[in-house]
Amino acid sequence: MQHLLNITDLSTQDIDRLIATAEDIMQNPEKYRDACRYKKLATLFFEPSTRTRLSFESAMMELGGNVLGFSEANSSSTAKGESVGDTVRTVSCYADIIAMRHPKEGAPYAAIQTAQVPVINAGDGGHNHPTQTLTDLLTIHRERGSLENFTIGLCGDLKFGRTVHSLVAALSRYQGVKMVFISPPELRIPDYIITNVLEPAGISYVQTESLEEAMPQLDILYVTRVQRERFFNEADYIRLKDTYIVDPDKLIHAKSSLVIMHPLPRVNEITPEVDQDPRARYFQQVAYGKYIRMALILDMLGIHL
Ligand code: CP
Repeated sequence: MQHLLNITDLSTQDIDRLIATAEDIMQNPEKYRDACRYKKLATLFFEPSTRTRLSFESAMMELGGNVLGFSEANSSSTAKGESVGDTVRTVSCYADIIAMRHPKEGAPYAAIQTAQVPVINAGDGGHNHPTQTLTDLLTIHRERGSLENFTIGLCGDLKFGRTVHSLVAALSRYQGVKMVFISPPELRIPDYIITNVLEPAGISYVQTESLEEAMPQLDILYVTRVQRERFFNEADYIRLKDTYIVDPDKLIHAKSSLVIMHPLPRVNEITPEVDQDPRARYFQQVAYGKYIRMALILDMLGIHL
């Protein structure tokens, strides 16, 4: 594997292999302790992050490797006008693999034009977030035992939520997955995903504004934050930001086996009381993110134990 820009760069066999490696790492962490000795991961984050950057760095450290990088554009020579292409070409001289987040959709495609080492898209604008999707797929696999035959409700900002876009693309390749898109009209799943992803794959889906009506049929509820940073107009954000707030009352008619996921960070869309519910799996989802990124780093560096 050269670069990972989009979840569709991976076949379902690739995903199965990464999940199997992540599960083996969880079972046998000592086996992987020195797997990346003398290797370096650069994290180039032009946009804020807690989970993605720190889980990549933690993953590389647990593999015995080292990390370098920056967590905001202003602490790099981007502030002096350097291009993404020149930055990535430069960092290729220092690191064996790069994880890059950028606020502009498509920036990773510019990066790979000059990169001399593998590049991982750690989120580009409202476009894609493939390593969050790998995290989500590992979570679903661990919680349900399979990536097939379930109904998932994707709730919130489906227009700008890049994690939703990547997850829909991934799940559309598995058998028996039904999708319920729950959003206000202004934040519906983009038409290009319906025409380019869902319809060609023959995926069964519905769109609704009502979380209450959708809830009883769901096996997985995937909640997302309204993406303030992608709005052109603050008034629209304020009007829409609290459209859905999952609280204990909303879960009364949910299945007892429901798996509640969220890529995080959350703002108001899940109340803290829900954290005590055993169906809330979003912090476990965070934990899985480190293991799948360990598996990905190994795979992209061609290290097979
Ligand atoms: N899920 C996710 O991408 O979180 P961060 O923005 O904190 O990296």
